[in-house]
Amino acid sequence: MSKWIPKDNEVADLQTEVLAWYSRNARDLPWRHTREPYAILVSEIMLQQTRVDTVIPFYNRFLTAFPDLQALAEADEQKLLKLWEGLGYYRRARNLQKAAIEIVRKYNGNFPKDADSIRTLPGIGAYTSGAIASIAFGITIPAVDGNVLRVYARLFRIMESIDTTRTKQSIEGLAARLVSPEQPGDYNQAIMEIGALLCQKNSTKCQQCPVQKYCRAFAENLQNDLPVRTPKSKPPLKTGLAFYIENDQGEILLVKRPDDIMLGGMWELPTIVLTAKTDKNETCQRVAAFLKMSPETSCLPVVQIKHAYSHFSLSLNGFRLLRNQIRMPENGAIFELFHCDKVAWCNPDNLAEYPVHQAQRKLLEAFRSQAITPDLFDQS
Ligand code: ADE
Repeated sequence: MSKWIPKDNEVADLQTEVLAWYSRNARDLPWRHTREPYAILVSEIMLQQTRVDTVIPFYNRFLTAFPDLQALAEADEQKLLKLWEGLGYYRRARNLQKAAIEIVRKYNGNFPKDADSIRTLPGIGAYTSGAIASIAFGITIPAVDGNVLRVYARLFRIMESIDTTRTKQSIEGLAARLVSPEQPGDYNQAIMEIGALLCQKNSTKCQQCPVQKYCRAFAENLQNDLPVRTPKSKPPLKTGLAFYIENDQGEILLVKRPDDIMLGGMWELPTIVLTAKTDKNETCQRVAAFLKMSPETSCLPVVQIKHAYSHFSLSLNGFRLLRNQIRMPENGAIFELFHCDKVAWCNPDNLAEYPVHQAQRKLLEAFRSQAITPDLFDQS
């Protein structure tokens, strides 16, 4: 059997089935109680690459802190990043603020109502503009994210990889034909919901599916073989050296990453990520010389954590040092060695003013539970 080419009456019937299923089965999610475009924007940005359960508390806290576009546009960036701490992909938060600033300045604070204008805002692509335009403004436009691609690849029995632009565009074309003109926002969210609850990656609940009768993958028992994905090569493993430097007051040295790099604006222990060209021992020695560590000062890794990013994995080795055993260089030299633009001595038990990214939070937690006393460590 070939790909399904839906007839008009089938499209209408499918929309009815999908919407009826959604009205009975939609999860009660906070952003489904509003059509306010700003709230929908926040939810959709947070939901990029992040699970619904994770997003809910972040969404609620965010809207309490920044209830409208104006509040977000005026927000202190460090406060914004602190609220995003733990959600990852921090560029989303910065782009969200840039989008708010653009709407306030260019559109006088009135959220643009057409998908093309929405799409020009920072951090917004075809999926997110389609979701906002359909949910907040009732525009008949599809919103095709990863879940939706999977549902349609099965429904239409797409045998080509969904990772290619060509297949994505072809699915977007099919999705545009199916979206309900009466309830486009509900329809789009219904397909996402089918993807999240029934038509999952490794589990299919076809008996409960409202579009089973149209599903070409189900008809040919191909639901577990679709969608076809292009195999990804294993992400490389990088190694980093991170230094926990403690002063007499029990404060630790944190540094802020420059704005223009990955995780820009976030704080961390002074860290060097090794490249293919850098040797671990050589780098340790370089740091030891930089800090003028005395030969008897121990600098052994005492903790190690791993963290997966989308394009690489990072193994961080943590070293513990005492402030009075080293010579603290000038800030300028610290900025250069550790690639940062601010330094601060911080109470490790109260980092309320410092947004710290996930891998480094894991590392700080490892140091905390390690609880090695400097004396013990020096003997090792
Ligand atoms: N994923 C992306 N957008 C969503 C939405 N509006 N509801 C549930 N999951 C989503």
